[in-house]
Amino acid sequence: LNKGVQHSNAKTENLAPHTADSTGEFMTTNTGLKINDDQNSLKAGDRGATLLEDFILREKITHFDHERIPERVVHARGSGAHGVFKVYESLATVTKALFLNDTATETPVFVRFSTVAGSKGSTDLARDVRGFAVRFYTQEGNFDLVGNNMPVFFIQDAIKFPDLIHAVKPEPDNEIPQAASAHDTFWDFISLTPESSHMIMWAMSDRAIPRSLRMMEGFGVHTFRFVNAQGVASFVKFHWKPLLGIHSVAWSEAQAISGKDPDFHRRDLWDAIDSGAFPEWELGVQIVPEEDEFKFEFDLLDPTKLIPEELVPVQRVGKMTLNRNPDNFFAETEQVAFHLGHVVPGIDFTNDPLLQGRLFSYTDTQLTRLGGPNFQEIPINRPVVQVHNNQRDGHMRQTINKGKTSYGPNSIGANDPRQATAAEGGFVTYPERISAGKVRARSKSFFDHFSQARLFFNSQSDPEKNHITDALSFELGKVKAVDIRERMLALLAQIDKGLAAEVAYALGLHIPENIGEQLNQNIPADADPAGYASIQ
Ligand code: HEM
Repeated sequence: LNKGVQHSNAKTENLAPHTADSTGEFMTTNTGLKINDDQNSLKAGDRGATLLEDFILREKITHFDHERIPERVVHARGSGAHGVFKVYESLATVTKALFLNDTATETPVFVRFSTVAGSKGSTDLARDVRGFAVRFYTQEGNFDLVGNNMPVFFIQDAIKFPDLIHAVKPEPDNEIPQAASAHDTFWDFISLTPESSHMIMWAMSDRAIPRSLRMMEGFGVHTFRFVNAQGVASFVKFHWKPLLGIHSVAWSEAQAISGKDPDFHRRDLWDAIDSGAFPEWELGVQIVPEEDEFKFEFDLLDPTKLIPEELVPVQRVGKMTLNRNPDNFFAETEQVAFHLGHVVPGIDFTNDPLLQGRLFSYTDTQLTRLGGPNFQEIPINRPVVQVHNNQRDGHMRQTINKGKTSYGPNSIGANDPRQATAAEGGFVTYPERISAGKVRARSKSFFDHFSQARLFFNSQSDPEKNHITDALSFELGKVKAVDIRERMLALLAQIDKGLAAEVAYALGLHIPENIGEQLNQNIPADADPAGYASIQ
């Protein structure tokens, strides 16, 4: 236990001027006027009517009336914590990112764990993927590693994300069920989307019902790029390994906990940090040299695939410790705006089509969720370094930019910010060569949907396999449409015939013979079917 350890770091100091402590202070209006009575409204006579003149009443009620903002369109339910990250040894051979080079620097972090499907007030113990979003407040700006507790994803292309989420969220006519995937629209979509097979195995495994947020792995999912100071790039997959180990609850326990304490994970994280039992994770990286891009049986750009650790070991390169609870849930955990497009020099993207779409989605949604273009000025979103550019104005602008000019090039503004060369720390996009015509068709290198699903199932112990069988039987048992259940059985049979047979038995159904034609293989409407024969 680290009880009593005081943690001061740059982000704590950066937040301090924005905090308020009213202990022993006079109550005031928002304009600073000391209030004499905020418990009784101003009336004409002691029995009223209430007077419109009462600015104290009006201000108090008006602010209350506008307290709510939209919850996140996904990952609405979350818990946050502050901490620090330190790299063990310099990774300068593969990345020039300073926070991964300098072993002396303790980088402040803010982490938000979340469920995906449920609304803000839903249970922590839903069978669901968990978000694992980490912001590093580095000396080169914010780097956000916006990952999940599973290493792969349901879909290969971001253009399908609205479909996936519409299918998993409560059904549009009756808004049922809350925070659960056990319903027709979800399994309808999954049964028609074979690329989700691998992720479904993870989502029906014990990984989907963690014992504690402190006992989950995290994954960046996509293949990212590291770039070193010489401009040499390599592919990288990010991992978080919990030092408490990986632990889950049984489904019967999850259901009981949901009833007794829907805040179970949030409370556990808060209490652990409050008592000084600081949760820790090691950052892991799998590194693949650029020249090995095509050496695997799967495509590194396909987010439904992982790189087996037997092929490329995970190197543990640093440690994150969560050591401070937020002061205010709304100001910090709710207003934090993660985005995997927040990178630092030395970390870059790949052409993974899911990653590419995410690069658009996060800022776009935050413009609505956080009310306009100035949400980066909210204290939890401010970097610990200074911000200088020619962006101006907009709702709720906080910064008072000095000077006459806000454009470039200009010859009259002493206040004009300069562009930075790479040597001065400027971000230079990795000059990856691309030579191709525009196409919508998906690469055939993305078409093997079942090998890694099978690999995952076979990696499970017998009790873990039984949990997957039970989870699928429970979930599909809630599906009303028999054709959806049967299509799922046919899909499961592609992964493991024994698994499909056991689920079929539990559902009292037979595995249908052929469902190939019903499966959506993402073939463009006017494509030559011969070219796609291999996937039927
Ligand atoms: C939110 C992870 C795919 C759109 C989140 C959050 C996480 C996450 C952890 C919660 C962030 C927070 O705590 O504030 C992932 C992962 C993905 C994935 C690991 C796949 C590998 C996508 C895709 C899209 C998308 C494909 C859209 C094309 C969003 C949106 C939010 C969100 C709009 C809400 C952000 C906000 O309101 O601040 N995602 N996501 N995600 N994600 Fe994703």
